[in-house]
Amino acid sequence: MKRVIIVGASSGIGKCLAEKYAYLKNKVGITGRRCELLNRLKLDQPNIVTACFDITESTSLRHLELLKEQIGGLDLLIISAGGGEVNEKYEWEKEDRMVQLNVNAFLEIAHWAFSLFMKQGHGQLAVISSIAANRGNSISPAYSAAKAFQTVYLEGLAIRAHKSLKPVYITTIEPGFVATKKHNGKVFWMVPVEKAAKQIIQAIENKKTKVYISKRWGLVAWFLKRIPYNMYRRL
Ligand SMILES: NC(=O)c1ccc[n+]([C@@H]2O[C@H](COP(=O)([O-])OP(=O)(O)OC[C@H]3O[C@@H](n4cnc5c(N)ncnc54)[C@H](OP(=O)(O)O)[C@@H]3O)[C@@H](O)[C@H]2O)c1
Repeated sequence: MKRVIIVGASSGIGKCLAEKYAYLKNKVGITGRRCELLNRLKLDQPNIVTACFDITESTSLRHLELLKEQIGGLDLLIISAGGGEVNEKYEWEKEDRMVQLNVNAFLEIAHWAFSLFMKQGHGQLAVISSIAANRGNSISPAYSAAKAFQTVYLEGLAIRAHKSLKPVYITTIEPGFVATKKHNGKVFWMVPVEKAAKQIIQAIENKKTKVYISKRWGLVAWFLKRIPYNMYRRL
């Protein structure tokens, strides 16, 4: 039995992960802003505890501390809260919102969890970044840059954990497209949310440092990292 917190579990990948971890009899704390959706999950699974808050608000760590106490400690923290917006018109509000959510709020929670795990001498932090982390994106520049921040930051933490010789693990998850919402435009290799959640849990259990969802997106990442800018800008 693990004590697990999933940040961003009212819908999408986080919700599916919460259902699976709860089904496996773990003690699961879930968060999100939409309280009624969180409460619905709790009704189905008595080993779920909920905390309803906005992670971009200054009180978010207080909520997480309380949730941790309610589930009796913390072995695994998954950050699924995040997301992007298409920003064709390059509006400041959208760019700012994406950075507040995917950089500032992510950083605060990752710092809290990693510090706790190093202090207690064990634990695992898993974060849903994105394949978008691999190159700049002209229609959502802040999203790709924010996801690059997550991926690179987590690599730093993984090395730090490794050097400490403590059983503290970092898992960075980079999905391509997951069928959690309507995707527009050039969508290919879309993975059903159930399949994505299963692969994510397997990667977490195997203490993988980095995983692509699905595996074939690893090829895309490999390609993206290597093609020269003059070619990439034409894609
Ligand atoms: N779906 C894809 O194709 C895809 C691909 C690559 C990466 N990802 C990444 O995977 C993660 C999960 O995405 P998803 O597709 O499952 O999206 P989703 O269904 O929109 O889920 C996002 C979750 O984050 C929570 N959240 C968002 N903003 C929040 C805030 N300010 N405070 C607290 N909670 C917040 C939402 O809860 P509330 O709305 O209730 O607050 C929701 O539970 C994201 O980081 C996304 O960037 C997704």
